[in-house]
Amino acid sequence: MLTNDRIGRRALLAGMSAGAALAALPGRAAGIAFPKDFLWGAAISGHQTEGDNSNSDIWHLEQLSPGPFSEKSGKACDFLNLYEQDLELASRLGLNAFRFSLEWSRIEPEEGRFDVKALDHYRRVAATCREKGMAPAITFNHFTTPLWFAKQGGWEVAGSGDRFARFCEAAVKAVGEFAGIATTLNEPNLGRLLRVILPPPIVADMGKAMQGAAALAGSTRFSAAQFGDQDAMLPNMLDGHRKGVAAIKAGPGSFPVGVSLAIVDDQAVGEGSKRDAVRSYLNDAWLEAAKADDFVGVQTYGRNRFDARGIMHPPEGVELTQMGEEFYPQALGATVRYAHAATGKPVYVTENGIATEDDTRRIAYIDAAVAAMRDCVRDGVPVKGYLHWSFLDNYEWIFGYRPKFGLVAVDRTTMKRTPKPSAAYLGAIAKRNGAA
Ligand code: BGC
Repeated sequence: MLTNDRIGRRALLAGMSAGAALAALPGRAAGIAFPKDFLWGAAISGHQTEGDNSNSDIWHLEQLSPGPFSEKSGKACDFLNLYEQDLELASRLGLNAFRFSLEWSRIEPEEGRFDVKALDHYRRVAATCREKGMAPAITFNHFTTPLWFAKQGGWEVAGSGDRFARFCEAAVKAVGEFAGIATTLNEPNLGRLLRVILPPPIVADMGKAMQGAAALAGSTRFSAAQFGDQDAMLPNMLDGHRKGVAAIKAGPGSFPVGVSLAIVDDQAVGEGSKRDAVRSYLNDAWLEAAKADDFVGVQTYGRNRFDARGIMHPPEGVELTQMGEEFYPQALGATVRYAHAATGKPVYVTENGIATEDDTRRIAYIDAAVAAMRDCVRDGVPVKGYLHWSFLDNYEWIFGYRPKFGLVAVDRTTMKRTPKPSAAYLGAIAKRNGAA
């Protein structure tokens, strides 16, 4: 089975070695101002923070033992009940934006039945952001889908795009009037990225886990976004995105709508590098789709290097994060430029962050990432927001609660929040609108 502690999207790279030192951090571009309406915020997702998301596909995968998930999400950070105090804290830090996701399985617990209480809940979350001076950046789907959707074959089956659009149509009526920006799908290209960085036996284990989840759910089928057949999913996800954008735009409010993509700073090394072919497989369809949107959402955690044989190990001796990734915050400059060049669209950084127990490294990471964005602004690249991942130490999928991505620590027994120095650091950057 997939042993989450050691193997995963980024942790796979842990323990591998190769040569070359950490590249120099980007320049400071002193005196460069970010646009005056720049969004400075932090991000979370429903399943990772709300708790008790028991009607979702991932919840069922979590129950398998042995299975891909090292622990269950359980009560997560209880954001479902504690959202008001969390939003108050984010606002007091000085942030002017907050990214959260709608949990489809709560809003549409059975196909075609929309839960009024759940819709009202998300309406209150969005309204509370506004009351506290923050623009809600609303993700309509952050990986998890309702169990009924997974049991139909999820994104692998024709018509799934229409089902997602129907959900968007209902959900936007509740939250649209408060939205600052919105994205349809979170990282619909992540499944392909996993297939680039994970060895084939691990991918096969993901398939087996779906069979286990199907049995648990009393179904002959089961498909979850990163686990299923990516080639079958792609046209349906693209369809869902297109129709989802149209449904969101037809609802109340007037705000930019796009899609968030997992974009790594892929670097070519030597003659005949596979970099371009891999990039095209990962991103082309989505970057093409984003040309019709208002913006492209970029989510970057580091770099991957490719030579003529394929993906390379991180350079020997470099600092690794808790996810086994190279500490490489300057990646953000390259990915923002790449996404803008490929689409011609403005960029919102909808995620960027580091898993570490050492908060001084998070501060260094934020500092370098913001410097890289400042260089983009200097060069005329329209970057319009930065939403740090994550606001809270939350449920990191198969890795459970061990990786610490948060600006704010969470004691999961008492649910007490403790802001780390990096929270104040990002807040201070927000207050001075990123001035160096
Ligand atoms: C996802 C988040 C995840 C983060 C850190 C992104 O791929 O959108 O849900 O927690 O990366 O791994």
